[in-house]
Amino acid sequence: MTSKGLFISFEGIDGSGKSTQARLLAEHLRAAGRDVVLTREPGGSPGAEEIRALVLRGEPDRWSAETEILLFTAARRDHLERTITPALAAGKVVICDRFADSTRMYQGLSRGDLRAVVDDLHRLMIGVEPDLSILIDMDPEQGLSRALAQPTADLRFENFGADLQHAMREGFLKLADEFADRFEVIDGARSIEAVAADVCATALRHLSP
Ligand code: TMP
Repeated sequence: MTSKGLFISFEGIDGSGKSTQARLLAEHLRAAGRDVVLTREPGGSPGAEEIRALVLRGEPDRWSAETEILLFTAARRDHLERTITPALAAGKVVICDRFADSTRMYQGLSRGDLRAVVDDLHRLMIGVEPDLSILIDMDPEQGLSRALAQPTADLRFENFGADLQHAMREGFLKLADEFADRFEVIDGARSIEAVAADVCATALRHLSP
């Protein structure tokens, strides 16, 4: 990226603990004097938050995978224009809970192989990758039971079930190999504090002093 800031994404299966880790990293960096924007996908701008409600609520078959690719990409484009790009241009650290790698996985793999479509649309409409992507790796059953225990209406993907969680875990690990230059894999099956210490050390290695 040509901007002055640093763009960090968190990825992982549902219930991996990545949202907690993204928040803890933001708190840590703010305490160290960094200007941090903590944001999420789908969402992160008013328009994209409206799309979030459309894609995450309702029955699993509410949208086809193709329609979802369009909706998630539309949300991402708005988020990028209104939140991420301005923050990076102002030299801020942007910490984003999920980004395009989630579309590569969830829409690219969950119902047939649509990865090429995801990549084509990404190239046309987004064209940006994080400087650092932190994959919080987690056992699929453990992740699913943690995700289902959280009180939320955003359950569309959790309702796809355990098979999807298994495919996503495997897919994320492969993606981390594919984009090894920007991915760091962190074992999420430990205490929150132990995972957070690894996350902080990893992020600090990528931040200039
Ligand atoms: P969250 O639980 O991390 O807030 O993510 C919400 C759900 O949205 C999660 O089940 C994964 C899904 N998702 C996609 O299917 N495609 C995407 O591009 C993104 C960002 C999320």
